[in-house]
Amino acid sequence: MGSARVIFDRWDGRYAARMAGVRSSAVRDLFAAASRPDVISLSGGMPDVRRVPHEAVTRATRDAMRHDGPSALQYGGSEGRYALRETIVGLMGESGVRLGPDDIIVTAGAQQGLDLLARVFLDPGDVVIAEGPTYVGALQAFSVYQPDIHCIPMDEDGMRVDLLEEELRRLGPKGAKFIYTIPNFQNPAGVTLVPERRRRLLELAREYDIPVVEDDPYGRLRYEGGHILPLRALDPDVIYLGTFSKILAPGLRLGWMSAPKPILARVLLAKQAADLCGSAFSQSVAEHYMTGTGWRRVLADLTATYGARRDAMLAALGEFFPDDVTWTHPEGGFFVWVTLPAHLDTKALLAEAVEHGVTFVPGSDFFPDGRGANCMRLAFCYESPEQITEGVRRLAEVCEDKLELYRAFVAAGAVPAAARVEEGVLR
Ligand SMILES: Cc1ncc(COP(=O)(O)O)c(C=O)c1O
Repeated sequence: MGSARVIFDRWDGRYAARMAGVRSSAVRDLFAAASRPDVISLSGGMPDVRRVPHEAVTRATRDAMRHDGPSALQYGGSEGRYALRETIVGLMGESGVRLGPDDIIVTAGAQQGLDLLARVFLDPGDVVIAEGPTYVGALQAFSVYQPDIHCIPMDEDGMRVDLLEEELRRLGPKGAKFIYTIPNFQNPAGVTLVPERRRRLLELAREYDIPVVEDDPYGRLRYEGGHILPLRALDPDVIYLGTFSKILAPGLRLGWMSAPKPILARVLLAKQAADLCGSAFSQSVAEHYMTGTGWRRVLADLTATYGARRDAMLAALGEFFPDDVTWTHPEGGFFVWVTLPAHLDTKALLAEAVEHGVTFVPGSDFFPDGRGANCMRLAFCYESPEQITEGVRRLAEVCEDKLELYRAFVAAGAVPAAARVEEGVLR
C-alpha cells in the first residue's frame, strides 16, 4: 500500500481528465511513518489480524484445496461462489435481512462495491449526497467519475436528516444520484444513526426516489453487546455493502453487495468489465473458515479487544486534552473524531506529531472541499491500550502549544470565540 502522490511527468497531456480530481489519501501517505516501530499509529483503520488465529486460516486454506480442488484455482462466476453467497445469506439473516444467494454479488472488498456503484450511477457533474465527514475511500472511488459530492453534517446521533431534507428540497428535480451513508459506527466520525433518523432517512429517500447506499463494515463490531441492525433490515430497496475485512481479514479482499435486482444486474456487468470474476481461491478459503463456530469466538475476542482499546482512548482523551477540544463517543467500530478550535489546522500539526512518535489523519481528508481542517480522526483498532494512552498523551502535547497560542489570540480579541466551531463540522 504505497503512496500514490500525483507528480507531473511527460505524459501529462495523455492522462484522462477525470484523474485530475482524484486525491491521494493521507492514510496511505502516512503508511511509511506509521509502520516505524517508534511511532504509535492512531491513523490507519487496520483490523488487528494478529488476533485471527493463523492455524484456523491455514486449516481453511487446506480445506479449500482438499474439497474445492481445481474450482478454487479456476475463473469463477462473476457473482461469486454459490457456497460463499449462502454463507452471506446466513450472516445477513442474523442482521434481520432475508435474502437468497441470487440477491448477492461477492466483491473485492466493500471498496470494489463503491467503485462499481460509481461506474453504474455516476456521470460527470452528478450529485452524490454523503455524510460530512465521510470515508476517504468512498470519496476516492466516487471522484474518479467526477461527481459533485454534497456533504450533510452530522452530530452525535448521526446524519442530520433535517439538513438532508433541506438539501433534497434545494436540489429540486435534478436530485442526487444516490445517498451514501455509513449509519453504524461511522468512519471517520464513530457516530451511529439513531432509530428515528433511520426511519426519516428512508422516508425521504422514497419520497425523492433516490437510492440509499449503506456501507456497513462495522455493524458487527459493537462494544455494548449485540450487533446493530442495518438500514437494509428496514427497507429492501437499500443497496447494502458488507465485508469480511473486519470479521476475518482484509487481505482476502472479500466483500459483498446486495441490491434490488435491476441494479444488481448492472453492477454485475460493471464487475465483469472490471475483473471478470473475483478470486475463487479467497472465496473458497473464506467459505471454509466460516464453517462451524470458530469464527464467532474469534469475532467475540476481536470485539472485546477493540472495546478495551476504545475505552483506553476515551479515558486518555479525557485525561490529556483540555476543555476546548471535543470528541465523539463511539459504541463500536474503529474511530473517534476529535474537534479542535476552528482556527487550528490539524494538517499543519501532522509532521510535528510524527516527530513526537504518533500519527493521526487530518480531518480535511474526509471532506471533498477542505472542510474539517480543525478536526482529526483517531483510530483505536490496532495499538494496545497502553500504546493508545501514550499516543494520545503525545498528541495532546503536540496540540497544547497551538491551543495556548489560540487562547492568547481569543483573549486579545483576535479570534471570535463564537466562530470556534466551523459550521457543518461535527463536534
Ligand atoms: C466505511 C468503509 N467502507 C469501506 C471500506 C473498505 O473495506 P474493504 O476492505 O471491504 O474494501 C472501509 C475500510 O476501512 C470502510 O471503513
